Amino acid sequence: MTFQMSELTTDSKSELYEQLVAQMRSLLAAERDYIANAANFSALVYHSLPEVNWAGFYFLRDGELVLGPFQGKPACIRIKIGQGVCGTAAERKQTLVVENVHDFPGHIACDSESNSEIVVPLVIGQRLLGVFDVDSPSLARFTDQDAAELNQLVEIYLDSSEFQAALLAGADAPKEEL
Ligand code: SME
Repeated sequence: MTFQMSELTTDSKSELYEQLVAQMRSLLAAERDYIANAANFSALVYHSLPEVNWAGFYFLRDGELVLGPFQGKPACIRIKIGQGVCGTAAERKQTLVVENVHDFPGHIACDSESNSEIVVPLVIGQRLLGVFDVDSPSLARFTDQDAAELNQLVEIYLDSSEFQAALLAGADAPKEEL
């Protein structure tokens, strides 16, 4: 692999994401393994976006979210659907932007430095495969623009990766989804 991570140098958020999207396409282009791609995806987001202290994946296994590849401090391993920011985004299959995690009922504190958070669900068709979670030590770090841009990045990840048949078939889904 000859991918070279070049520093994204711009003060404009739109330009930063434009460069990040181009780098992400190139980084994931030659690989279909969803774990390998999740690992590189997390690393590129973590090292490209300012004011981020955690970026990573949870995948749906046996009806709950289980920690996948990430960058940042060690994190909680299992999250029930409907619990915390990740479990709520997963249950609703909606992106959640939380300006102050301490005000979010049931927020799960993995890193005491985290103050704001964004969670993008991984959805193919109507099937939930997991979530991508980013934390920040700054309050209100993430805006609707971050939500739109991170959704675009997650789409690139989903398009570039092949998932285990069990995940796609919903065998790991919570019972009420089956
Ligand atoms: N804060 C998340 C838990 C995951 S960590 O932030 C890595 C939540 O409330 O779901």
